[in-house]
Amino acid sequence: MLTIESPDEMRAWAREQAASDRTIGLVPTMGALHGGHLALIADASRRCDVVVVSIFVNPLQFNEADDFGNYPRPIDNDVANCQAAGVSVVYAPSGSAMYPEHFQTRVILGTLAEVMEGPMRPGHFEGVATVVSKLFGAVRPDVSIFGEKDFQQLAVITQMAADLDTGIEVVGHPIVRDPDGVAQSSRNRRLTPAQRAAAVCVPKSLTAARIAAAGGAEPGDVIAAAAAIIDSEPLTEREYITIFDARTLTEIERFEIINRRARAVRIATAVWFGNVRLIDNCDLFGE
Ligand code: PAF
Repeated sequence: MLTIESPDEMRAWAREQAASDRTIGLVPTMGALHGGHLALIADASRRCDVVVVSIFVNPLQFNEADDFGNYPRPIDNDVANCQAAGVSVVYAPSGSAMYPEHFQTRVILGTLAEVMEGPMRPGHFEGVATVVSKLFGAVRPDVSIFGEKDFQQLAVITQMAADLDTGIEVVGHPIVRDPDGVAQSSRNRRLTPAQRAAAVCVPKSLTAARIAAAGGAEPGDVIAAAAAIIDSEPLTEREYITIFDARTLTEIERFEIINRRARAVRIATAVWFGNVRLIDNCDLFGE
């Protein structure tokens, strides 16, 4: 396995793969790899001849300097996990390689970035889209895999890849959960044991929502059922729960027959545990 740190070297390696007709799968990450990332790597390996995992904690997408500073960076462990998973290249550029002095370009997004997480995290998706665009430019992947836990991120990147004619297939991978249902996330390791135990209320709230929806409740009551579970846990502070159209990400205030049949409706939530913010979502009417 190679570790590459410069965009030029990364592009040169990608050109060699293309010349040998090998397809490249990219799994973009900020490191602190967990089972969810390993599932994305396995998916990329099934789809492509070679797999690149990028590891870069992207300052452009953080709203709080503390959150950026505290983000876990267990790079040696990450590299060992990539090696064990059969990854061909870890692409781990430095901050100055990605954003040299005088860097000034940003990707401007549309409505998909303006809803849900968008207003809570100004500039976040622009930062994500900008770094992913740079990773696409350096790695030149055929396929890139993103987890559905960040459902809005997946939607924004899918749209960007299509709008900018990248030719890259963006694939969403189902959320990987711990045995108690909590979605795997790099942020989980910042929870205290008591907060980690309390975090089970998040997937439980989504299950309560699905039960209410299956029983015929309208969005307001579905959200109330989910909120009751989160609010009964003293260690939480609920930020939002929203029911939305999976394609446009617009909020749904009343269900139509089509919503229930088309599996096009999702519910998402963001919940604080102290200074750790967890997000989760699921299909509201699917199996
Ligand atoms: O999902 C993440 O880990 C990040 O947002 C990404 C896609 C690697 C961009 O920094």
